[in-house]
Amino acid sequence: NTTPHVPSVGRTLDRFIKQDQAQFPNATGDLSQLLRDIAWASKIIHREINRAGLIDITGSYGTHNIQGEEQQKLDVIANVRFIRALKNGGEVCGIISEEDDDFIDTGNLNGKYIVAIDPLDGSSNIDVNVSIGTIFSIYRRKSPLGTPPVLEDFLQKGTEQVGAGYVLYGSSTMLVYTTGHGVNAFTYENSLGEYILSKPHLQTPDDGKIYSINEGNYNDLSEGVKNYLNYCKEKKYSARYIGSLVADFHRNLLKGGIFMYPATAKDKNGKLRLMHECNALAFIVEQAGGVASDGKQRILEIEPTSIHQRVPLYIGSKNMVEKAIAFNP
Ligand code: AHG
Ligand code: MN
Ligand code: MN
Ligand code: MN
Repeated sequence: NTTPHVPSVGRTLDRFIKQDQAQFPNATGDLSQLLRDIAWASKIIHREINRAGLIDITGSYGTHNIQGEEQQKLDVIANVRFIRALKNGGEVCGIISEEDDDFIDTGNLNGKYIVAIDPLDGSSNIDVNVSIGTIFSIYRRKSPLGTPPVLEDFLQKGTEQVGAGYVLYGSSTMLVYTTGHGVNAFTYENSLGEYILSKPHLQTPDDGKIYSINEGNYNDLSEGVKNYLNYCKEKKYSARYIGSLVADFHRNLLKGGIFMYPATAKDKNGKLRLMHECNALAFIVEQAGGVASDGKQRILEIEPTSIHQRVPLYIGSKNMVEKAIAFNP
């Protein structure tokens, strides 16, 4: 790949997308429009989250998803909003969501793309006013245009992603994404209703001093992971764990660190979803110079066998993830 040009800060997302696309004369603009659709939906979620305490949208929805997790009202609202935006946009023929058992046929037979989404990540943090997020991956469909999507359109390896990103609804709302030419981060400007480029061509440090894991699972972890955690303590690294993957990932991306969700005695593949969570963040971290692994292989090279499959995750700064893997997690 050629060195990505370093864009100047302060441009709106719209302008950035337009200029980015202009570098690729053969691009039709569909991917650009798809990114705008996602950005649009995220602004609505931003609005809902910001007033969640004032209207009756906190708490449980009273249902469970296929993962056996209790769905929060905002999980459901975010799911509906993103699916609606992608259906209306027209570029996407099918969607897989953490909150839906099966893939969704959008009815856009001529949509070139499929999207995998975790509409709301960190849902246990909604009711306590702590950062949450959205994660998405974009793939080109395999089946012919003009036909409905089929399962094999969705079961693609992470290396096939044409774009991926996340939105962090934190102290400010940020959209961070890649189309395979570096990572760019945009901060939402409330009064303008626009995402503004704030961190162009983001690179993550090769090393860090933060480790992030739910250490309450310690007794259920492998000897290798336990040994690595003891190593982190010997090194006096800082333990940081929010419990929202997007927020934990984003902090470590900027500061340098490692996030782990290993296999546990109860969950042989850990907790996190390959298609809705891990692949997108793996694409981003690699584009930023970091590493993502399940402990044995690159996340992006895992051949998916089902849309809700889980995988252990070790992700972050290159040297830290490589060190963790050397402990045979
Ligand atoms: P989601 O809210 O989309 O279901 O994801 C929750 C995930 C992830 O955000 C976080 O890293 C992890 O669950 C935390 O799990 P533990 O509570 O087991 O630590
Ligand atoms: Mn969930
Ligand atoms: Mn999640
Ligand atoms: Mn979720």
